[in-house]
Amino acid sequence: MTEPRTIKIFDTTLRDGEQAPGASLDVEQKVELAHRLARLGVDTIEPGFPISSPGDFRAVQRISREVEGVEICGFARAVKDDIDAAVRATQDAQRRRLHMFLSSSNIHLDFQLKKTRAEVVRLAREMVSYAKGFVDEVEFSPMDATRTGDEFLFEVLEAVIEEGATILNIPDTVGFALPEEYGDMFTRVMRGVRGSERVEFSAHCHNDLGMAVANSLAAVKAGVTHVEVTVNGIGERAGNCSLEELAMALATRGEKFGVQTNIRPEEIYATSQMVSRMMGSPIAFNKPIVGRNAFQHEAGIHQDGLLKNRSTYEIMDPERLGIPRSMIVLGKHSGRHALRHRVAEFGVELDERQLEELYAAFKERADKQKTVHDHELLQMAGSAVDRALEPYTLSEVQIVTGSGGHRVASCRIRDNEAETERIVTGGGEGPVEAAVNAIRSAVPEPVEFAGLELYSLSAGETANGEASVTVRLNGELHRGTAANRDIMLAAAEAYMAACNRAVRTARAARAPGDDAADSGGSPVGESEITIS
Ligand code: KIV
Ligand code: ZN
Repeated sequence: MTEPRTIKIFDTTLRDGEQAPGASLDVEQKVELAHRLARLGVDTIEPGFPISSPGDFRAVQRISREVEGVEICGFARAVKDDIDAAVRATQDAQRRRLHMFLSSSNIHLDFQLKKTRAEVVRLAREMVSYAKGFVDEVEFSPMDATRTGDEFLFEVLEAVIEEGATILNIPDTVGFALPEEYGDMFTRVMRGVRGSERVEFSAHCHNDLGMAVANSLAAVKAGVTHVEVTVNGIGERAGNCSLEELAMALATRGEKFGVQTNIRPEEIYATSQMVSRMMGSPIAFNKPIVGRNAFQHEAGIHQDGLLKNRSTYEIMDPERLGIPRSMIVLGKHSGRHALRHRVAEFGVELDERQLEELYAAFKERADKQKTVHDHELLQMAGSAVDRALEPYTLSEVQIVTGSGGHRVASCRIRDNEAETERIVTGGGEGPVEAAVNAIRSAVPEPVEFAGLELYSLSAGETANGEASVTVRLNGELHRGTAANRDIMLAAAEAYMAACNRAVRTARAARAPGDDAADSGGSPVGESEITIS
């Protein structure tokens, strides 16, 4: 059997990805993300555009010095000063590449560059030759290549090969190409461009028509060995080819392509979360691979199938991607089988009467709200079995907020094991902090607040808000989610739910064999607040 070819993953999250509106990063953030990208297994990192700002220069320089085991690429226009800056910034990299771009389509030449084709060819030659004086690996990108036409595209590519370019990246800058067209273009170039056997080819696709991943796969089929991608597909306009979608398409359907990548799937989710948080760019719920619905199932028939065998409705295992496992989302389409299963995960076995009672209460609640969260289910299951199933019950919350001074919260909390109830208060700079401080004072276990995400579940004044809180106990992360018309109450309830989950897990670990054991922990990221 022939060994699969390795497709090199060129990550441009920190350069093209950062060109997404509002996504800019500071030097420290870029360095931290670059370390994470190296851990993810990308082959090349393009950390920025060194001439564009002193910050970007420093980021590229620090990443070149600090991030090991990965090629670092400096980005430049076909301009001497740009090339000099990129060369200096990447000076200390273990391995480096220079990526130079110059437009090739008539529309760019006429309206933007205001240069003739002959001038462009001359400039491309001069600048590639200049760059080769400093760096062995020179990548050349004819910008807007897919609207250029073969004749001039071939002419430019032949010229830069003659000057020593080693990698030809042919970008679909405006996301115009269709998969067959993009693949065929590479086939024609590889056959028709003089010297093409001496260079490697790279794909770079934008997602304006939602085809960046499909186009990149077509290029892989045609024989490119490098693909330029960004985490979460972030980038200009509709973004770039998404790293995680491309990597998982190749991992899941590799037999169709005869290729592999060096990406470590188990690092995908944490990297995606970090990029989303740092760039302030929420991930669509239905985004393939990393969206929060990507591995969640609400329909009763699907849930039933999954509980019998995961592969009935899943083509990838989310646990392999480091994604917190909660495949069953309880909503109005869920059936008895899923309810019984979820409650059993919390150590509660229901008899038929109790299941019917829970099912009736659940359906009533599910009709009113989109999703029934675990803590709500446990409250209902608690009524069915006549005992409280959570360590603590948050029964009342008052939060005083306003434009000046401190915020104050007061909460009534019942300790269900000790059978005591307390009213606790807390203060803080903001209302969430005040509520967290109040609840924390009623929970003796050292639960640390680790993160909060807030979502608006619909538009309008009466919209429900959803809060998802992450806490840490004994080094493990746990998540609680709650929805409420009042977003502050949702945050307080989600925090209580996360604490309950953490405490239940810790107590179960202390008492092995205790049937209240719950796997509970979710491998989620560091402390941050995201509002979307
Ligand atoms: O989309 C594009 O054309 C680019 C390059 C300059 C490669 O980002
Ligand atoms: Zn681009």
